[in-house]
Amino acid sequence: MRHIILDTDPGVDDALAILLALSSEELQVEALTTVVGNVSQEKANRNARRILEFLGVEDVPVAPGAERPLIEEPRPAEDIHGPEGLGQAKLPEPRLKPDERSAVELIVEKAEELGGELTLIAVGPLTNIALAYMAEPRLPEMVGELIIMGGAYGVTSHGFGNASPVAEFNIWHDPEAASIVFKAGFKLKAVGLDVTTDPRNRMSPSLFREIEALETPRGRLISDLCRDLVQRFNGLSLHDPLAVAAAIDPSLIEFKAFHVDVELRGEYTRGMTVTDRRPGSRAPVNVEVAVDVDSERFLKLFMERVVYGG
Ligand code: RIB
Ligand code: CA
Repeated sequence: MRHIILDTDPGVDDALAILLALSSEELQVEALTTVVGNVSQEKANRNARRILEFLGVEDVPVAPGAERPLIEEPRPAEDIHGPEGLGQAKLPEPRLKPDERSAVELIVEKAEELGGELTLIAVGPLTNIALAYMAEPRLPEMVGELIIMGGAYGVTSHGFGNASPVAEFNIWHDPEAASIVFKAGFKLKAVGLDVTTDPRNRMSPSLFREIEALETPRGRLISDLCRDLVQRFNGLSLHDPLAVAAAIDPSLIEFKAFHVDVELRGEYTRGMTVTDRRPGSRAPVNVEVAVDVDSERFLKLFMERVVYGG
């Protein structure tokens, strides 16, 4: 059993990641913490509670986090995730209330309680993780590991940006937070666009049609969540579910260690994850970057757990 906190900005693929985490007996979801990113923090927190309520889960705290990046202005992606952040999905106003603790308070509290048994999974901008580290500088040594969905590392032919030609959205949305986190000393694994946009790891239009044909509550929710993006982008990249899958079954993903810096000043490159791939480089490695995925097993896990409910 792996105890996790999922820090998230739901968001269509975040919603799928929450479904995956809560449908996987390998994971004990200690909390969801929400962060500004795809949508405002308020919408992210409400959406996280909506998904929990859909699942009938009432005992997982949903703690509100940062409402703005450390320096940048919020730059939501509602053109991608929809005005509410859940595509075409219509879920009722949740009865569940936000936790009284903030995201930072809950992350630090659980790190003190669980120590190395706790895995942090961040699938949105890293603002909450950076703030938690600034509140508790021992955090990297306290928790077992930090797994992020974030970055574009150039380690595969898909390793280029989405928010810009070179920057991936979660890093780009709060580069200062990402830079702090990448330098903090976490045991850090990064699932980046290098693998999430690989066609072999995506929800294809035919897989979407299989889901849409189901006459089940999950089938209807997932197809409403994903329909617009599948039509616009000829399928859906399962960015955030792949990061959660790395915690469920690490054997699904091959990681390789690199030294990575986050660009903060470049006019055209701000938010880029600059990866030192020079043979024999002596730069200290700080990130294990996902370089390959067992695509068939990942998609099978996704269908079994998310679509069919475990
Ligand atoms: O670049 C993909 C990431 O940005 C995903 O986490 C998606 O939800 C958005 O937040
Ligand atoms: Ca996300």
